[in-house]
Amino acid sequence: MEQLSGEIFYPSKDVLKKTRVKDWNQLADFAGENLEAFWEKEAKELKWFKKWDKVLDDSKKPFFKWFTNGKVNIAYNCLDVHLDTHRKNKVALIWEGEKGEHRSFSYFALHREVSSFANALKSLGVQKGDRVTLYMGRIPELLIGMLACARIGAIHSVVYGGFSVESLHERLEDSHSKVLIVADGAFQRGKIVPLKAIADEALQRAASVESVLVIKRTGEPVNMEYGRDIWYHELVNLPMINSKCPVEELDSEHPLYLLYTSGTTGKPKAILHTHGGYMVGTYSTFKYVFDIRDDDRYWCAADPGWVTGHSYIVYGPLLNGATQLMYEGAPNFPFPNRWWQLIEKYGITILYTAPTAIRGLMRFGEAWPNRHDLSSLRLLGSVGEPINPEAWKWYHRVIGKEKCPIMDTWWQTETGAFMITPTPTVPLKPGSGTKPFFGLKMDILDEEGNPVKANEEGFLVVKTPWPSMMRTIYNDPDKYVEKYWSKYEGMYLTGDSARRDEDGYYWIIGRTDDVIKVSGYRLGTAEIESALVSHPAVAEAAAIGLPHEIKGNAIHTYVILKVGVEKSETLREELIAHVGHEVGPIAKPENVEFVDVLPKTRSGKIMRRVLKARALGQDPGNLATLEE
Ligand code: WT7
Repeated sequence: MEQLSGEIFYPSKDVLKKTRVKDWNQLADFAGENLEAFWEKEAKELKWFKKWDKVLDDSKKPFFKWFTNGKVNIAYNCLDVHLDTHRKNKVALIWEGEKGEHRSFSYFALHREVSSFANALKSLGVQKGDRVTLYMGRIPELLIGMLACARIGAIHSVVYGGFSVESLHERLEDSHSKVLIVADGAFQRGKIVPLKAIADEALQRAASVESVLVIKRTGEPVNMEYGRDIWYHELVNLPMINSKCPVEELDSEHPLYLLYTSGTTGKPKAILHTHGGYMVGTYSTFKYVFDIRDDDRYWCAADPGWVTGHSYIVYGPLLNGATQLMYEGAPNFPFPNRWWQLIEKYGITILYTAPTAIRGLMRFGEAWPNRHDLSSLRLLGSVGEPINPEAWKWYHRVIGKEKCPIMDTWWQTETGAFMITPTPTVPLKPGSGTKPFFGLKMDILDEEGNPVKANEEGFLVVKTPWPSMMRTIYNDPDKYVEKYWSKYEGMYLTGDSARRDEDGYYWIIGRTDDVIKVSGYRLGTAEIESALVSHPAVAEAAAIGLPHEIKGNAIHTYVILKVGVEKSETLREELIAHVGHEVGPIAKPENVEFVDVLPKTRSGKIMRRVLKARALGQDPGNLATLEE
C-alpha cells in the first residue's frame, strides 16, 4: 500500500472486493496518457444517432468542441435506451413529499411523462433552440420538464425555488425565455412559498415570456392571467397531447441548458452546457465515482435547481439507469430524523449531500440517526464547500458506520462534472477531495504562474480540457475568455485557492473572488449589494462573507443611508427582508451595519478585504490603494 501522511482512512475489504472496476490505477493511468481515447471509450457506451468525426477539437480554444459532428440526444440516453433492456420496468424515480406523499416512476413511465410534457411544450410553440425557464420546488415535474426540453432540443434554464423576484426576473430576461414553467407553490417546513405569485411579480418586469405553464402542487388559489397562464394538468389532458414524441437528433454541441451562477462582478452569468460532452462527462463520473450498480438506491439530497441536481439527480443517474430518491423537504422538518427515516424506509445505498447539511444535523446529536437502521448505506458523498474534518468523521462514523467511503467531490457549475474526487478504493484524508479525476491535469500556481511548493496556497487551475466543460457564457463569449482563460495562458482558472500536500492530495481553501458560499449555495457580493441599493433608503452597500459554524459562511453587510434617512432597527429589518424579497431567503444578510463611509480604492472599488479584516479583528494588510 502507498505511504501517505496525515490521518488516513483505507477502504475496507468489502469495498475492495465488490467494486465493479478491476484495476482503478490502470484506468487512471490509461486516461492520464490517452485523454481522448479514454473519453472516446466512455462515449461509445452511450447511443449516438451518428458517430463523431473528432473526439476533441481544440482549434478554436478556449472554445473547445467535443465529439464534433456527432448526432445525439441526452434525454434519449436517459430514458429511451433503457426501454429495450431489463430496466424498462425498473424504478427510475421515487419521490416523497414533505408531508409523506409518495410517487414513483419506472423508466417506462418516466419516458411517457417526459414525452407528454414535451408535446405540451410543443403545443405552446416551443421549438428547438428556444429557452424555457423552470421555477419550482423539488418535485418530479422539475426533472420531467427538464428532460422534456432536452428531448425537443429546447434549452432549459432552471431557477432555484429559493430565489425570488429579482433573481427570477434577471434570468428570464437574460435568457429571453419563451415559456416559464412554474409551480403554484412549494412546501417548505410546513409553510407554503408562493412561487406563482413571485413569478407574477417577476413577469411584470420581464417581456419575452409568452406562456406560463402552471404545475399544481399546493392547490392554493393563484392568479391565472387569461391568454398567458395555463394549468399543466389541463393542457396535458387535451386529446391533442399524447405520449408519443419523436426525439430530436441534435448536434453534439447543441446547447442543453443555461444555468446562472454568481461571479465576481455584476449580474449572475449563464453557464452553457451542451448535449454531447456533458452527457459523456456526467455519465462516466457518476458511474466511476459512485461505482454504481443496478441494485443501488441512490439519493442526492441537493436541489435540481443547482448544478449538483442537474448533473447528479437528472442526468448522471438516469444515463446510468439508476434508481433514485428525490425528497421534497428539509433535513430536519418536522424532526431531525427525517433523512435517517428516509434512508431506512427506502434502503438507500448511496447518500450524496453537502457539508452544511451534515453540520446542521450533527448538532442534534447521535441519538437521532441511531434510532434508525442505516445499514443499507455503502457509500457517501459530499459537495459544495470544503468539509471540515470533524463533520467528515461524524458522517463517516455515525452515518456510514465506518464502512462507507466518503467521496468528497470538488467541481463547479462551470465544470459540469466531478473534477477532484476520490474513487471508492482510494485512501481518504478527511477534508481532502484527493486527486483530479481520470485524465485531468490540474495545478496550483502563484501570481506569476509558477507552481507553488507542497502545502503552499495558490490559484487552482485546470490544464487539460474535459468533455463536460462549459462552452461559453451565454450571450457573452468575451467574458468567458476573460474570466476563465486569461489569467494564465491556456489554463482554466477555477476561482478557488488550494494547496497540495506531499502525497499529491488537493485541499480546497476557498474562493479567491467575491463569491460567497452560504450553506453551499453560491452567491455574489454584487447581487446582495445591488438588492440593497435598490431600496429607496440606501445610497451605498457592501457585502462580505464571514465564517459561520453551520453555514460555512454568512453574509454581513454595510450600508450608507441616503442623506436625511434615519438609522433604525425597523429599517435594518426592512433591508434584510428586502434582500430576501429580491434575491431570495438564502441571500438574507445576518446583519446590516449602518456606516458613514466604506473603504474604497482610488478608482472607487469597495475594498471588501478591509471590511473583512476589521470584522475578524485582523490586520487589513496593505492599504496603499485605500482612498477613504
Ligand atoms: C464552488 C462551485 C459543484 C456543485 C456545487 C457547487 C466550492 C464545491 C467543493 C468541495 C471544497 C467545494 C468551490 C467551487 N466547492 N465542491 N468538495 N470542496 N469546495 O457548484 O455553485 O458552481 O460552486 O463550490 O469553491 O468553486 P457551484
